[in-house]
Amino acid sequence: MLQEGLLEKVILCAKEAGAFIRKERLDFSYQKVEIKGLNDLVSYVDKRAEAMIVKSLQEILPEAGFIVEENTKSEKRTYNWIVDPLDGTTNFIHGVPCYAVSVALEHEGKIILGVVYEVSRDECFYAEKSKGAFLNGATIKVSSRQTLSESLIATGFPIYNFSRLDDYFAALKHFMQHTHGIRRIGAAAADLCYLACGRVDAFFEYNLNPWDVAAGALIVLEAGGTACDFSGKNNWLFGKEISCTNSLLDAEFNAVIRNSF
Ligand code: IPD
Ligand code: CA
Ligand code: CA
Repeated sequence: MLQEGLLEKVILCAKEAGAFIRKERLDFSYQKVEIKGLNDLVSYVDKRAEAMIVKSLQEILPEAGFIVEENTKSEKRTYNWIVDPLDGTTNFIHGVPCYAVSVALEHEGKIILGVVYEVSRDECFYAEKSKGAFLNGATIKVSSRQTLSESLIATGFPIYNFSRLDDYFAALKHFMQHTHGIRRIGAAAADLCYLACGRVDAFFEYNLNPWDVAAGALIVLEAGGTACDFSGKNNWLFGKEISCTNSLLDAEFNAVIRNSF
């Protein structure tokens, strides 16, 4: 049984890291960027934000393990924090205003709590399993659009794993011709939260890691949406492919994904 007030503490922790990220952006320069791999960027901001978040979460729930993007290593435990300290690093580095802190708590393979703090818009999205989804205190719901022809789609373009590019282009081609358009926001956690609050109607991406999707996907599910992998199965957390919709678009959207990939 989890402690009372856990969610509030996690929200505070995400906002503290967000305040640090916001402050560092003010005089951030490209000289501070390190290259992890092809188009895979990082800086001290990601690493220090991660250290801050991990320290706070260790105090909040000492028995939990960590699955975290940058430096923190830990064995898997009964409860595990899944953390992306700065989702949207490329946006952050180039000064494009959409990047977020993403914190989720996993228990027995399920995400039971998720917080996504979108730093530049000061938007805090959060959910606990079976308790609904919220944005800055107000309940959020997915959109009620029923056809692809009236929908806006979010995705992330591949930046270093091009192994499925032809399949990806096939899906893009269909969505370009049969929807209101496609958005590449640049932070998967934000893509998912924008779906949860009805700004976009469906989202898909391959090659994401658990820390990119854990919190945001719970928020989608709690806002009335759906999440699956590209075969329509449930392996979206560790399976490196995710497709989410407002639920009403499930059949039409996932058929395009299945036929493309
Ligand atoms: C990235 C963002 C982006 C997605 C990338 C992710 P990062 O995370 O979520 O939208 O397309 O594949 O790696 O590296 O900024 O934490
Ligand atoms: Ca990320
Ligand atoms: Ca990151």
